[in-house]
Amino acid sequence: MIDAREVDFYTLSAIIKLKVRANQEHLVAPNSVTIAQFHYEPAGCVRGLWNGDIPVGLIAMINPLIESPSFEEGDALDAAYLWRLMIADEHQGKGYGGEAIAIAYQQSREWGLPKLQTSVVPGENCPMPFYEQHGLKQTGKMLDKEVELMGLVP
Ligand SMILES: CC(C)(COP(=O)(O)OP(=O)(O)OC[C@H]1O[C@@H](n2cnc3c(N)ncnc32)[C@H](O)[C@@H]1OP(=O)(O)O)[C@@H](O)C(=O)NCCC(=O)NCCS
Repeated sequence: MIDAREVDFYTLSAIIKLKVRANQEHLVAPNSVTIAQFHYEPAGCVRGLWNGDIPVGLIAMINPLIESPSFEEGDALDAAYLWRLMIADEHQGKGYGGEAIAIAYQQSREWGLPKLQTSVVPGENCPMPFYEQHGLKQTGKMLDKEVELMGLVP
Protein backbone atom coordinates (compact mmCIF):
# COMPACT_ATOMS: atom_id res chain seq x y z
CA MET A 1 0.00 0.00 0.00
CA ILE A 2 1.43 3.37 -1.00
CA ASP A 3 0.74 6.91 0.14
CA ALA A 4 1.56 10.34 -1.28
CA ARG A 5 3.73 12.75 0.69
CA GLU A 6 4.95 16.27 0.01
CA VAL A 7 8.53 16.39 -1.20
CA ASP A 8 10.69 18.20 1.36
CA PHE A 9 14.30 18.90 2.23
CA TYR A 10 14.76 15.37 3.60
CA THR A 11 13.13 13.43 0.76
CA LEU A 12 14.06 15.50 -2.30
CA SER A 13 17.13 13.52 -3.25
CA ALA A 14 15.41 10.11 -2.86
CA ILE A 15 12.55 11.22 -5.14
CA ILE A 16 14.91 12.74 -7.73
CA LYS A 17 16.88 9.48 -7.90
CA LEU A 18 13.81 7.47 -9.02
CA LYS A 19 13.92 6.60 -12.73
CA VAL A 20 11.62 4.88 -15.19
CA ARG A 21 12.93 2.26 -17.64
CA ALA A 22 15.16 3.51 -20.46
CA ASN A 23 12.42 2.70 -23.01
CA GLN A 24 9.91 4.81 -21.02
CA GLU A 25 11.97 7.98 -20.75
CA HIS A 26 10.08 9.66 -23.61
CA LEU A 27 6.78 9.22 -21.72
CA VAL A 28 7.40 11.35 -18.63
CA ALA A 29 9.74 14.15 -17.55
CA PRO A 30 12.47 13.34 -15.02
CA ASN A 31 11.38 13.98 -11.44
CA SER A 32 13.97 16.77 -11.08
CA VAL A 33 12.25 18.63 -13.95
CA THR A 34 8.75 18.11 -12.52
CA ILE A 35 9.85 19.37 -9.10
CA ALA A 36 11.53 22.43 -10.65
CA GLN A 37 8.45 23.20 -12.80
CA PHE A 38 6.18 22.81 -9.78
CA HIS A 39 7.81 25.86 -8.19
CA TYR A 40 6.58 27.95 -11.14
CA GLU A 41 3.14 26.30 -11.43
CA PRO A 42 0.81 27.96 -8.90
CA ALA A 43 -1.94 25.38 -9.52
CA GLY A 44 0.40 22.40 -9.15
CA CYS A 45 0.67 19.76 -6.47
CA VAL A 46 3.63 17.35 -6.46
CA ARG A 47 4.08 14.44 -4.09
CA GLY A 48 6.40 11.51 -3.68
CA LEU A 49 4.86 8.05 -3.56
CA TRP A 50 6.03 5.87 -0.70
CA ASN A 51 5.59 2.31 0.45
CA GLY A 52 6.48 2.76 4.11
CA ASP A 53 10.03 4.10 4.08
CA ILE A 54 10.68 3.07 0.46
CA PRO A 55 10.29 5.76 -2.24
CA VAL A 56 8.56 4.25 -5.28
CA GLY A 57 7.36 7.08 -7.52
CA LEU A 58 5.99 10.56 -8.06
CA ILE A 59 2.57 12.03 -8.79
CA ALA A 60 1.89 15.60 -9.91
CA MET A 61 -1.52 17.19 -10.42
CA ILE A 62 -2.96 20.55 -11.42
CA ASN A 63 -6.04 22.18 -9.88
CA PRO A 64 -7.92 24.06 -12.64
CA LEU A 65 -9.69 26.22 -10.05
CA ILE A 66 -6.42 28.00 -9.21
CA GLU A 67 -5.34 30.71 -11.61
CA SER A 68 -2.20 29.73 -13.51
CA PRO A 69 -0.30 30.92 -16.57
CA SER A 70 -0.40 27.31 -17.83
CA PHE A 71 -4.16 27.48 -18.52
CA GLU A 72 -5.37 27.95 -22.05
CA GLU A 73 -8.78 28.87 -23.36
CA GLY A 74 -10.92 25.75 -23.67
CA ASP A 75 -9.19 23.86 -20.83
CA ALA A 76 -11.63 21.83 -18.70
CA LEU A 77 -12.48 23.63 -15.47
CA ASP A 78 -14.28 20.63 -13.98
CA ALA A 79 -11.39 18.17 -14.21
CA ALA A 80 -8.32 17.73 -12.03
CA TYR A 81 -5.36 17.23 -14.33
CA LEU A 82 -2.98 14.34 -13.68
CA TRP A 83 0.13 16.13 -14.87
CA ARG A 84 2.86 13.53 -14.19
CA LEU A 85 2.87 9.99 -12.89
CA MET A 86 5.82 7.66 -12.65
CA ILE A 87 6.57 4.46 -10.78
CA ALA A 88 10.28 3.65 -10.65
CA ASP A 89 11.57 0.80 -12.81
CA GLU A 90 12.11 -1.73 -10.00
CA HIS A 91 8.70 -1.00 -8.41
CA GLN A 92 6.52 -1.33 -11.52
CA GLY A 93 3.98 -4.13 -11.88
CA LYS A 94 3.19 -4.33 -8.15
CA GLY A 95 -0.10 -2.42 -8.31
CA TYR A 96 1.38 0.93 -7.20
CA GLY A 97 0.36 2.69 -10.43
CA GLY A 98 -3.25 1.65 -9.79
CA GLU A 99 -3.01 2.89 -6.22
CA ALA A 100 -1.62 6.19 -7.54
CA ILE A 101 -4.71 6.59 -9.75
CA ALA A 102 -6.88 6.06 -6.64
CA ILE A 103 -4.84 8.84 -4.97
CA ALA A 104 -5.49 11.07 -8.02
CA TYR A 105 -9.25 10.40 -7.78
CA GLN A 106 -9.13 11.18 -4.05
CA GLN A 107 -7.33 14.47 -4.75
CA SER A 108 -9.99 15.34 -7.37
CA ARG A 109 -12.71 14.74 -4.78
CA GLU A 110 -10.87 16.92 -2.25
CA TRP A 111 -10.74 19.71 -4.84
CA GLY A 112 -14.48 19.22 -5.48
CA LEU A 113 -13.95 18.22 -9.11
CA PRO A 114 -16.12 15.57 -10.80
CA LYS A 115 -13.57 14.52 -13.43
CA LEU A 116 -9.96 13.43 -13.78
CA GLN A 117 -8.05 14.25 -16.93
CA THR A 118 -4.63 13.29 -18.23
CA SER A 119 -2.78 12.94 -21.51
CA VAL A 120 -0.36 10.36 -22.86
CA VAL A 121 2.37 10.31 -25.47
CA PRO A 122 1.08 7.96 -28.19
CA GLY A 123 3.29 5.23 -29.64
CA GLU A 124 5.81 2.86 -28.17
CA ASN A 125 5.14 1.76 -24.54
CA CYS A 126 2.21 4.17 -24.24
CA PRO A 127 0.40 3.28 -20.99
CA MET A 128 -3.07 3.73 -22.55
CA PRO A 129 -4.28 0.24 -21.44
CA PHE A 130 -3.20 1.06 -17.88
CA TYR A 131 -5.32 4.25 -17.80
CA GLU A 132 -8.27 2.54 -19.48
CA GLN A 133 -8.18 -0.18 -16.80
CA HIS A 134 -8.64 2.61 -14.27
CA GLY A 135 -11.64 4.36 -15.82
CA LEU A 136 -10.03 6.98 -18.06
CA LYS A 137 -11.22 7.08 -21.66
CA GLN A 138 -9.92 8.76 -24.79
CA THR A 139 -11.87 11.92 -25.61
CA GLY A 140 -10.73 12.04 -29.24
CA LYS A 141 -8.92 15.35 -28.58
CA MET A 142 -5.19 16.05 -28.50
CA LEU A 143 -3.48 18.18 -25.84
CA ASP A 144 -0.38 19.54 -27.50
CA LYS A 145 0.93 16.32 -29.11
CA GLU A 146 -0.58 14.03 -26.48
CA VAL A 147 -3.81 12.00 -26.50
CA GLU A 148 -6.35 13.35 -24.00
CA LEU A 149 -8.03 11.01 -21.52
CA MET A 150 -10.89 11.81 -19.16
CA GLY A 151 -12.70 9.86 -16.45
CA LEU A 152 -15.52 10.48 -14.00
CA VAL A 153 -14.33 10.53 -10.40
CA PRO A 154 -15.91 7.53 -8.63
C1 LIG B 1 2.32 3.51 -16.26
C2 LIG B 1 2.87 3.23 -14.85
C3 LIG B 1 2.63 4.45 -13.94
C4 LIG B 1 2.12 2.01 -14.28
O1 LIG B 1 2.62 1.76 -12.99
P1 LIG B 1 2.67 0.26 -12.38
O2 LIG B 1 2.95 0.40 -10.94
O3 LIG B 1 3.59 -0.57 -13.18
O4 LIG B 1 1.17 -0.18 -12.64
P2 LIG B 1 0.36 -1.34 -11.89
O5 LIG B 1 1.32 -2.33 -11.31
O6 LIG B 1 -0.65 -0.72 -10.98
O7 LIG B 1 -0.46 -1.93 -13.10
C5 LIG B 1 0.20 -2.65 -14.05
C6 LIG B 1 -0.82 -2.92 -15.13
O8 LIG B 1 -0.79 -1.84 -16.07
C7 LIG B 1 -0.35 -2.34 -17.31
N1 LIG B 1 0.61 -1.40 -17.88
C8 LIG B 1 1.48 -0.62 -17.23
N2 LIG B 1 2.18 0.11 -18.12
C9 LIG B 1 1.72 -0.25 -19.33
C10 LIG B 1 2.07 0.11 -20.64
N3 LIG B 1 3.02 1.01 -20.90
N4 LIG B 1 1.39 -0.47 -21.66
C11 LIG B 1 0.43 -1.37 -21.40
N5 LIG B 1 0.07 -1.77 -20.19
C12 LIG B 1 0.72 -1.21 -19.17
C13 LIG B 1 0.37 -3.65 -17.01
O9 LIG B 1 0.33 -4.50 -18.10
C14 LIG B 1 -0.44 -4.19 -15.84
O10 LIG B 1 -1.63 -4.81 -16.30
P3 LIG B 1 -2.25 -6.08 -15.52
O11 LIG B 1 -2.60 -5.59 -14.14
O12 LIG B 1 -3.45 -6.43 -16.35
O13 LIG B 1 -1.17 -7.10 -15.50
C15 LIG B 1 4.38 2.87 -14.87
O14 LIG B 1 4.55 1.78 -15.77
C16 LIG B 1 5.28 4.00 -15.32
O15 LIG B 1 5.72 4.79 -14.50
N6 LIG B 1 5.59 4.07 -16.63
C17 LIG B 1 6.53 5.02 -17.17
C18 LIG B 1 6.05 6.44 -17.08
C19 LIG B 1 4.68 6.63 -17.68
O16 LIG B 1 4.31 6.12 -18.72
N7 LIG B 1 3.89 7.44 -16.93
C20 LIG B 1 2.59 7.84 -17.38
C21 LIG B 1 2.78 9.11 -18.13
S1 LIG B 1 1.35 9.49 -19.02
